[in-house]
Amino acid sequence: MSIIISNREVANNVYVLTVEGDYQGAIGQFYILRAWGNYPVLSRPISIHNIEEGKIQFLYKVFGEGTQMISKLRAGDEIGLEGPFGNGFPHIEGKVAMIGGGIGVAPFYYAAKQMPWADVYLGFGQEAYLVDEYEKVAANVVTNVGGRVLDDLDVDAYDAIFVCGPHGMMHATYEKAKNNKADVYVSMEKRMACGVGACLVCSVICQEKNKRACVDGPVFLATEVNFDAENGL
Ligand SMILES: Cc1cc2nc3c(=O)[nH]c(=O)nc-3n(C[C@H](O)[C@H](O)[C@H](O)COP(=O)(O)OP(=O)(O)OC[C@H]3O[C@@H](n4cnc5c(N)ncnc54)[C@H](O)[C@@H]3O)c2cc1C
Ligand code: FES
Repeated sequence: MSIIISNREVANNVYVLTVEGDYQGAIGQFYILRAWGNYPVLSRPISIHNIEEGKIQFLYKVFGEGTQMISKLRAGDEIGLEGPFGNGFPHIEGKVAMIGGGIGVAPFYYAAKQMPWADVYLGFGQEAYLVDEYEKVAANVVTNVGGRVLDDLDVDAYDAIFVCGPHGMMHATYEKAKNNKADVYVSMEKRMACGVGACLVCSVICQEKNKRACVDGPVFLATEVNFDAENGL
């Protein structure tokens, strides 16, 4: 078990959890968090938001029982962390856009620290948060509240585009960029059960064969994903 340094609410139902310890991880990888005994049965996957010497941070939104329980934890409480799991976004030396929708902004703080030349696009539904923090680490930050952050994106300007957010947003980014030079990478955040590739709960419908978000992803090249099938069309 690890000790919590702080669990700060940064917007309505959105928290930054800071946990003590020396942790590893690549951008786009995730940890599995558990703050309870037998119930709920499953631990909850959350992306790496930041790693520094002596601490790891997660940016999370309260959706249901598990995240509600995590939000109640205070400094000095214990939490179980396992990880890092999954693959991550690639390291790109060229022009990179990182697009986060809602709580999908989470991985792009650590990502911008690793690639400080990247432009970060933050799309929020109702309320922006942590924009000042992103501005400290990214070359440029474009923020959109209540609209479509994708409308602000010039796809011609980039060699690679990373997206994390609602599936519709990832699909729309792919459609907008598919005839351009940029490679689009999407983080397919599926519901997970075993987390180790055994149960197939996290299947992503791909062009060749279905893949598992927990071990083959969560990051995929957008060209691999069959978005129409994923959307049930
Ligand atoms: C690889 C990965 C990385 C993630 N990173 C983050 C992160 O950085 N920050 C963050 O806030 N959340 C992240 N999530 C989502 C997070 O895991 C879920 O919100 C959480 O597990 C919900 O648990 P709960 O007990 O609060 O809600 P539950 O009671 O389990 O579910 C509440 C509602 O949320 C929906 N839901 C649950 N999990 C998901 C999911 N994975 N995708 C879509 N809908 C879901 C359910 O269908 C239900 O409607 C990530 C998920 C994955 C797979
Ligand atoms: S969660 Fe079981 S295979 Fe991915």
